[in-house]
Amino acid sequence: MTTLDENTSTGTSTEADQLRSNLELIGRENINDLEAVLGFVGQYDVEGFHRVPDNCPAEFTWDYEKGSKPQLDKLYEKAKKAQWNGQTDLDWSIEVDQERVVIANAEANPAQMQWDEAAIAGTALEKWDDKRFIQFGIENQNWLLSQFMHGEQGALLCTAKIVETVPWIDAKYYAATQVMDEARHVEVFSKYLDEKLSGHYPMNAHLGLLLDDIVGDARWDMTYLGMQIMVEGLALAAFGFIHAMTTEPLLKKLLRYVMADEARHVAFGVLSLQEYYKELSAAELRERQEFAFEAAIRMKDRLVMQEVWERMEVPTADVVKLMQAAPERDEFQILLFSKIVPNLKKLGLLDAADGWLRTKFTEMGAIAFENLTDSTEDEDAFADGSPVERQVA
Ligand SMILES: [Fe+2]
Ligand SMILES: [Fe+2]
Repeated sequence: MTTLDENTSTGTSTEADQLRSNLELIGRENINDLEAVLGFVGQYDVEGFHRVPDNCPAEFTWDYEKGSKPQLDKLYEKAKKAQWNGQTDLDWSIEVDQERVVIANAEANPAQMQWDEAAIAGTALEKWDDKRFIQFGIENQNWLLSQFMHGEQGALLCTAKIVETVPWIDAKYYAATQVMDEARHVEVFSKYLDEKLSGHYPMNAHLGLLLDDIVGDARWDMTYLGMQIMVEGLALAAFGFIHAMTTEPLLKKLLRYVMADEARHVAFGVLSLQEYYKELSAAELRERQEFAFEAAIRMKDRLVMQEVWERMEVPTADVVKLMQAAPERDEFQILLFSKIVPNLKKLGLLDAADGWLRTKFTEMGAIAFENLTDSTEDEDAFADGSPVERQVA
């Protein structure tokens, strides 16, 4: 992401007054330009790994007083009791028949998972038989779980980075528990993909761009803003939807356990940033607003699932036609911002710098979520005991 200043936050009010266009921020003027979204191709890492330079200095603190940030301390104590074991607390003997799951899910959720005839008219889908539609559903599952897994690895790396870079001991302690949580999440999504599904997808290009930006930024709070507030805020809502929609019992339980952890992670982001952001200048807050906006667009772009359409050999023009014929799918995607918007408001980012970010979320159609409760009041985050002991359902 471009910033006013690469390594330090020395913006002045004159810089804050400069309005950057969508073209400068996200590479296109119209946020709903689907051709541009589908045309963006990420880098394929042929070596089998991906390196990102980390520009943020690691910081020791000599202030070891535990509990000087009482809410972070409380969250840390909760997190120590909330651990669960991905190998033994989930019933991996459950057999998953992907075809049956696709059919059962489509029957249970016709509005989200079935196309009506008018929408597919004139596109490649018009000629698809049942077998091809089921294959599309299977590819959807493989893609979604792959993206969850890659995103979880992003969270693992980001949280390890927070342990190094955040200046307060209570936050370092808490972040250390989150590192363990994220390792467990990568582990369970990877195991589910390998043992229950039928193929992997590489990291989505838009998600990859966002994670590179988050990991590479020199300012410690940007890791929190990008990961805990934006990526994990969206993930928490997405896990919630899939948890509600899936008819597959192992995935349902797996997601519920992961959500119990994610609620804490998002609360950690809000609790850590809310005081810090009160100290920042208008120019510095504008940089955070731009970062949040870019992140929101990258995550929205990811939801187009371009890699699945490519694998199913559906031409780009047809994908655009399908999306335009089914606007309720776009509305459904906007619902995924329901956790993010109230948290940005709590952090003061919606209304800072003349309400620039409020205008952007209004443009996206997501501003109505601003009055929902923010994540510092999420009961799941502060619940006693592990999800196993609480027998969450
Ligand atoms: Fe996670
Ligand atoms: Fe997380």
